[in-house]
Amino acid sequence: MQPLKIAVLGSGKGSNFRSILNAILSGQLKARPVLAVSDVQGAGILTLAENLGVPTAEVKESKFRTRLSEEVECGLVSTLRASGAELVVLAGYMRVVKKPLLDAFPRRIINIHPSLLPAFPGLEAWRQAIEAGVTTTGCTVHFVDSGIDSGQIIAQSEVPVLPGDTPATLHARIQEAEHRIYPDVIKRFAAREIP
Ligand code: GRF
Repeated sequence: MQPLKIAVLGSGKGSNFRSILNAILSGQLKARPVLAVSDVQGAGILTLAENLGVPTAEVKESKFRTRLSEEVECGLVSTLRASGAELVVLAGYMRVVKKPLLDAFPRRIINIHPSLLPAFPGLEAWRQAIEAGVTTTGCTVHFVDSGIDSGQIIAQSEVPVLPGDTPATLHARIQEAEHRIYPDVIKRFAAREIP
């Protein structure tokens, strides 16, 4: 089976991208990163990619903060198509995905979210968990649809909320789980197990 060609799209530091790259480099994940894209200039995800010779692209959007304008998103679709990506992996991408991208990659855009969805969608889910007083939270990998963290769930991993946790300590524990679960889910796509 050919390695699965993946494109990773993120706005932040890129620790999930790093865990995916580590799984690829150690031979556990049969995938090839063909593109890293960010809407934030100088984002960690771009530096990681550049260091490994993975092609990068920057999306420039000045009109909206929470989504891309249709024109810019159509440009992103062309860039992704040209890369040959078979799976679009969102890793800390802070914008809502709209129709042009959703239509171009049906059931082939996935996201990781730091809660057990449907609980705590949206921003700072770890802080929401602490404020709600739950004793268990976690992370979810899901298909991306037009809503906010509302697509079909593919996998989840539970994480305890411990006494004395701050938003930062809880987020760090959730991220450890993310770094295991995301490469594992991509493995299932690479094995062509997920229709
Ligand atoms: C993760 O916590 C993920 O769940 C959320 O954004 C964060 C990205 O972190 N969607 P990183 O950039 O991968 O370190």
